Amino acid sequence: MLVRRRQFLQSAAALGASLALPAVAAPIAASARKESRFELIPADFKVALDPASPVQTGVWSFNDRFPGPLLRFRRGDRASITVRNQLPQETAIHWHGLRVPNGMDGVPGVTQEPIPVGGRFEYRFDLPDSGTYWYHPHQASFEQVPRGLYGALIVEEDKPPRVDRDEVWVLSDIKLDERRQQVEDFGRILDIANDGRRGNQLLVNGLVAGPERKIAVRSGERLRLRLINAASARFFKLSIEGHAASIVAWDGQGLELPQTAPADGIVLGPGMRVDLILDCMEKPGGRFEIRESARPRSPAIVLGVIAYTAQPALRAKPLATPILVPPNVLPEPDLAKASDHYIMFQGGMRGAPTIGMVDGKPSRIQDIMARQGLAWTMNYNAQHEHALMHEPLLTLSRGEHVILHMVNETDFVHPMHLHGHFFRVVGINGVANPAREWRDTVIMAPRQSIDVAFIADNPGEWMYHCHILDHAAGGMMGTIVVE
Ligand code: C2O
Ligand code: CU
Repeated sequence: MLVRRRQFLQSAAALGASLALPAVAAPIAASARKESRFELIPADFKVALDPASPVQTGVWSFNDRFPGPLLRFRRGDRASITVRNQLPQETAIHWHGLRVPNGMDGVPGVTQEPIPVGGRFEYRFDLPDSGTYWYHPHQASFEQVPRGLYGALIVEEDKPPRVDRDEVWVLSDIKLDERRQQVEDFGRILDIANDGRRGNQLLVNGLVAGPERKIAVRSGERLRLRLINAASARFFKLSIEGHAASIVAWDGQGLELPQTAPADGIVLGPGMRVDLILDCMEKPGGRFEIRESARPRSPAIVLGVIAYTAQPALRAKPLATPILVPPNVLPEPDLAKASDHYIMFQGGMRGAPTIGMVDGKPSRIQDIMARQGLAWTMNYNAQHEHALMHEPLLTLSRGEHVILHMVNETDFVHPMHLHGHFFRVVGINGVANPAREWRDTVIMAPRQSIDVAFIADNPGEWMYHCHILDHAAGGMMGTIVVE
């Protein structure tokens, strides 16, 4: 099977040179592209998670910063990002949500060879879409991500909505012992087969969550708040005291109509992003909490506050300009001519016993959990990550209109992510979803079915996996080939 992978890598590399990005309606002439260069140096170092305490905590992150540096581009730019690996492990960096050519997608053993310890790799790709994205390793991601390897990546719109302030919050968690050092219990089968490994300390932009994490605003200002869930297993349910937030984008994709944020909170699964716009019309000096309440029977956790300065109001009425984020032009699937494909999910610690193929043999998953580290099946197959995978889950022809029916037969929630494409969420439990929003990651509740539609227009072998990274490591990871 490694031979098959190598052949694939070679043909993908040969293709790489001539590979065009998916078409967009407003193409940018090659001559107009600006190249933006960055260097990312993943390494092991110490940081202060709490600026009020002298304790330093060891993390793996980028460029001596935690989280990694914010990479900011304009739509249409060409990114050139050199990664120099100073970690004690091999790695490869994935640009979550970006429609890049397959060879730039950062999946070791599938789209590239891993970057060896001390090695380097240059990622070069065009940026056809604006929005809020992030980057993280795809090598042993159940370990490398929670150790701290993640950062935000923003692609600015040609005409962004007018705001006074644009804030990015990278939300995550970390598992600390009593000395405030990381607990190194990555890849335990107990986490793989359950809800995944969660930290015991929530973080906002790499600092301990709490009322000290402030977004300072002046009364009357319009705020754009970009939220990224970089946690490896934790869901966030977010609410903002005293303010009506409008959701203007999911996973970087501007909505045709802004949505009012639900009163009980916005649910953000691992990997997902949301862009909010808020008119801050309260009085100078006011403080309003931003809270997380994903655990139903636990008290809400304060992540931070919107802190009004003492300055007099900037304006008495909210800005009248529209809050719309101009949508990207994504290839529109035609449901009438789409082909149907099914993915069935089974397994996990609870629920019915599951039989699946493991290394070519039908096995009772519950019996081999401890031995193989696998706990989940997709279409009755439990596979190890990346280079050890046997066969793609699906093979689609280039240009095919696709409806992917995902059937969750487990008692667990799974944020499912597809690389290289955006999809519209067209059905929930067999009922049409009127919002039909574009996403790259969609939440599949326990026992729920979700239908997504897209055009398979980006050639290559693409990862399709649960973004609870312990689930991905435990069998809930496969590939979809577009040929
Ligand atoms: Cu955010 Cu396959 O990853
Ligand atoms: Cu999952």
